[in-house]
Amino acid sequence: AGAASGRAAALGFKPIPPNELDTVIVPNGYDHAVVIRWGDPILPGAPAFDVHRQSAEAQLRQFGFNNDFLAVLPLGHDGRRALLVSNHEYTNEELMFPGFTTLEAMTVEQVRVAMAAHGMSVVELERAGHTGQWRPARGRHAYNRRFTMLETPFRFTGPAAGSALLRTAADPAGTTPIGTLNNCSGGVTPWGTVLSGEENFNQYFVGGDQAPAELKPSLARYGITTTARYPGGSRRWERAQERFDLAKHPNEAHRFGWIVEVDPYEPGSRPRKHTAMGRFKHEGANVIVAKSGHVVAYMGDDERFDYLYKFVSKKRYRPGDRRHNLTLLESGTLYVAKVTGDSPAAEIDGTGKLPSDGAFDGTGRWIKLVSGDRSYVPGMSAVDALTYARLAGDAVGATKLDRPEDVQPSPVTGKIYAALTNNSNRAVGTNPGVDEANPRRANRHGQILEITEDGGDHTGESFTWSLPIVCGDPADSSTYFGGYDKSAVSPISCPDNVAFDRTGNLWIATDGNALGSNDGLFATAIEGPERGHLKQFLTVPPGAETCGPFITGDERSVFVAVQHPGEITGATVENPASTWPDGDFAKPAVVVTWRPDGGVIGT
Ligand code: FEO
Ligand code: CA
Ligand code: CA
Ligand code: CA
Repeated sequence: AGAASGRAAALGFKPIPPNELDTVIVPNGYDHAVVIRWGDPILPGAPAFDVHRQSAEAQLRQFGFNNDFLAVLPLGHDGRRALLVSNHEYTNEELMFPGFTTLEAMTVEQVRVAMAAHGMSVVELERAGHTGQWRPARGRHAYNRRFTMLETPFRFTGPAAGSALLRTAADPAGTTPIGTLNNCSGGVTPWGTVLSGEENFNQYFVGGDQAPAELKPSLARYGITTTARYPGGSRRWERAQERFDLAKHPNEAHRFGWIVEVDPYEPGSRPRKHTAMGRFKHEGANVIVAKSGHVVAYMGDDERFDYLYKFVSKKRYRPGDRRHNLTLLESGTLYVAKVTGDSPAAEIDGTGKLPSDGAFDGTGRWIKLVSGDRSYVPGMSAVDALTYARLAGDAVGATKLDRPEDVQPSPVTGKIYAALTNNSNRAVGTNPGVDEANPRRANRHGQILEITEDGGDHTGESFTWSLPIVCGDPADSSTYFGGYDKSAVSPISCPDNVAFDRTGNLWIATDGNALGSNDGLFATAIEGPERGHLKQFLTVPPGAETCGPFITGDERSVFVAVQHPGEITGATVENPASTWPDGDFAKPAVVVTWRPDGGVIGT
């Protein structure tokens, strides 16, 4: 069965059990290998990695730290070459530098190494043999790139580009930010570019206490400390580049928190930040072409009690006209979601017990915030509503969700799936209470939100929704797996990244497994009698989260990013909590999984 039949390929693999092993585990009949790891040389002139002799100059030419989102894009037509695009979300200095004591005690050169280890990478891959195994292309670097916080110029597009809020001493035009920060998840566009979400950018700034008084409320709404010069756990980047001191350069904070678009097929192209898509703690963005030809991007703001957004392009997609399509995300309309339950509020008791109609479900509306240069938010200009999209969402009464992470439309059904990862504060103390889409008090395990646009119209303003999966131990009565027999499903906690294979099975990767075992990757049918039959496909080492994932178009390979292995309190390079992947100390790395018999992944 293929996509054309509308039926997903059956997931026949035998699920792997929860475990705490210090390795990557895959099902029987599958193989896996490390594709690339932190420090591997990718640009000409890069030295071999030496943990004891790190420099910013070296790191600028090596694969960065903490790989998160992955895309694997075909290169040429013979199926043997591809471009890997990876985000490098953040750095664990304690797991990078031997002898690390505190962030304050790091040398300025170590700060510069960390800045160079952030950002993104593009690496050409080649197929190894005739299976789904891939490795870095030998002797070919023409497409390889690093985007770093140290020195890579980006270009702002859209209504806020050049606005007063984006101007700084170093960039009085407000058009050319340097670097991309805390890139978490992302997506691949139909025109072959990669989108990347700038997420927890707030943690890199100091001096918020001395920022202009009129900016403090918005800085605080984005999590920037405005009551002390040095927030707890500050990386002290202002010691390397003064722009991270908001006492001197308050607008620098406005230059992060955007969706970034990079074109891996054009190595000389300048990456862009699209202000029309709004500024928040972007998890990522995934694009679908609506029936009308407009492109629609779905996006989550990963914070407890924050919002789900969508962007509808002003212009229409033109098949084959790449030059035109590259402009589609520069102008359009930004919406935020209001999600309403259809069961009586009294039936949502905070335990996860299903209401009497048998489902957490209801209707919703997309509330227009900005269209082109016009704001629909009372008291806010378009530039304000885009730059402070969270405040715009507050003003229109958007629904406060349990940390919206990755959001992705199914390429087969067009239904949209959002991972709501967890929310330990839901209905705790003075925090907002439960509602039908966020039905559990102190939600530790998260849920999947499924959205169906009315009439299948991605450009529309109304939808229906349900929760097909309420995560946790299936033996726990607060969980729900699409009505499937819970004795046959794998435990899952803290869904973060979602992906689809070509036939429409939903793949879910986790971050922060509150059930105590390692994080992993899961797959389930999401339509038909197998809806909710969730099975664990892979686990990662202790302390790691499972990122990516990416299933290649030929369905012979699943890539995952193993992010922050060994990130456990007290662990260091010398005293690691994980020695994966090389047996010495932990390194973030990209892994590919395949079937040695050449078969389709998952079946
Ligand atoms: Fe970087 Fe929302 O996970
Ligand atoms: Ca209901
Ligand atoms: Ca994430
Ligand atoms: Ca996460």
